[in-house]
Amino acid sequence: MKRISIIGSGNVGTNTAFFIAETRTADVLLVDIKDGIAAGKALDLMEAGPVRGYATSIRGTGKIDAIAGSDVVIIAAGVIRKPGQQREDVYRDNAPIVSAIARDIRRLAPSAVVINVVEPIDLLTLLIQETLGTDRLKVMGIGGLLTSTRIRFLVSKALGVSPREVTGLIIGPHHSSMVFLKDTIRVSGIPAEALLGEARLCELVEEARNAGDAILQLARRSTAFYASCAATAALVEAIVGNTKALLPVSVRCDGEYGIKGLAIGVPAYVGEGGVAGIVELKLSTADREAFDKAAAALRTAHDNIVAGAA
Ligand code: LAC
Repeated sequence: MKRISIIGSGNVGTNTAFFIAETRTADVLLVDIKDGIAAGKALDLMEAGPVRGYATSIRGTGKIDAIAGSDVVIIAAGVIRKPGQQREDVYRDNAPIVSAIARDIRRLAPSAVVINVVEPIDLLTLLIQETLGTDRLKVMGIGGLLTSTRIRFLVSKALGVSPREVTGLIIGPHHSSMVFLKDTIRVSGIPAEALLGEARLCELVEEARNAGDAILQLARRSTAFYASCAATAALVEAIVGNTKALLPVSVRCDGEYGIKGLAIGVPAYVGEGGVAGIVELKLSTADREAFDKAAAALRTAHDNIVAGAA
């Protein structure tokens, strides 16, 4: 069994462990600096196993050294935004947390594939990769995959069909400027636009774009996390099974899509070493413009926030 370490045992860490256990993908180690929390949650998850039918090992510890030799490390520790805050607003709180974790990973599990689930996803995925100093393709942030599951659900609900047959690719930053490649939103290969009409599809796209904010407004004290955990567990499945699933992930680009030195959501084959290849699609003029605009705003945010935080 591959070993997955999850750093942070809040809502994201714990539910990601649960989804990984449910798909019997790998053994999980939950790590949390708050003494006893990770061990308690791991025990609770293991005790649910006989009924849920999983027997993969889930352990919990307060000691970061236990991540040594992990195949995958998921970073899920940090503060969440409050209603009204933008994702960038938590950069200053979360940057020192994730860079300290990245230094631990560099020391203890330097060959692990690393997945970042901490907001702001793209800026922190880059910071983690820079701190690790590792192969850029080994560090991925979730984002597009999270929004993809949202649009799949909304389209399936609108049409009254199974979400399994619905696809949809979202690229760009995990930010309200994310780019929905509308032509990829399909039901069993049929463009959703043909089934729903352009106006209705646009409404659903806007709903998916704003889902993170809408859930935060409703739940107040917690951001959305089940969909993030599902996306993270799907990435883990692709890594552990070396499936080369084509998934949108945030990864540091080196010229792809005209981007250098920024992590941003792009379609990528995901396998045991992380990103096995970035797929450069020929985008429509409208999608290209939206992507370039979003990337330019991400670059400005990077320059302002990172310089301001220094
Ligand atoms: C969301 C948070 C994770 O989109 O940003 O729900």
